[in-house]
Amino acid sequence: MTDIAPVITPEASHQVPLRQALSAFSTGVTVVSTVSGTGAPVGLTANSFNVLSLEPPLVLWSLRTNSSCVEAFQSASHFTINILSEQQLELSRRFARPGDDRFDGVTWRFGPGAVPRIQGCAAIFECRTVSRQIYGDHVLIIGRVEDYRYQAKRPLIFHHGRYHALGEPL
Ligand SMILES: Cc1cc2nc3c(=O)[nH]c(=O)nc-3n(C[C@H](O)[C@H](O)[C@H](O)COP(=O)(O)O)c2cc1C
Repeated sequence: MTDIAPVITPEASHQVPLRQALSAFSTGVTVVSTVSGTGAPVGLTANSFNVLSLEPPLVLWSLRTNSSCVEAFQSASHFTINILSEQQLELSRRFARPGDDRFDGVTWRFGPGAVPRIQGCAAIFECRTVSRQIYGDHVLIIGRVEDYRYQAKRPLIFHHGRYHALGEPL
């Protein structure tokens, strides 16, 4: 009998911190928006967005339990996932910074669910909140898509902690 070579070889990359290894998964970039109890627009940059189901149309994302936005999203009946285009890099930076002035100078309007939608995005999905569940240090939020818009724009990409433009199709 011949020896079978090991399928997994030990690599230095096994030693990298978990966060760095997870960042090998490239994502788009979103701003998730809603309103506070007083009706003020609230939002943050998030790349934890993903599709959960097509029928019914469900999406998910997760929010740090110690985020300044947690109170608003814990009680929000609706939220909007704003998928950023590659022209919206500054919006991503702005909505990832601490502070309550993130919407200053941003062009947005209310959608039918009375939550903000940002103009000029590659797509927006307005969702009704159907589930909120704390797992570890994040709240997993699931929404049912009630309205959406799409524009043929190139998306902003996040990979290994840096912003990128979309490459050419393989
Ligand atoms: C590209 C990128 C993706 C992010 N994704 C998330 C996310 O999915 N969930 C989250 O809670 N925070 C995420 N953040 C961090 C928030 O944007 C940041 O914590 C927040 O805006 C800072 O203030 P806060 O206390 O309002 O959360 C991300 C930041 C960046 C730059």
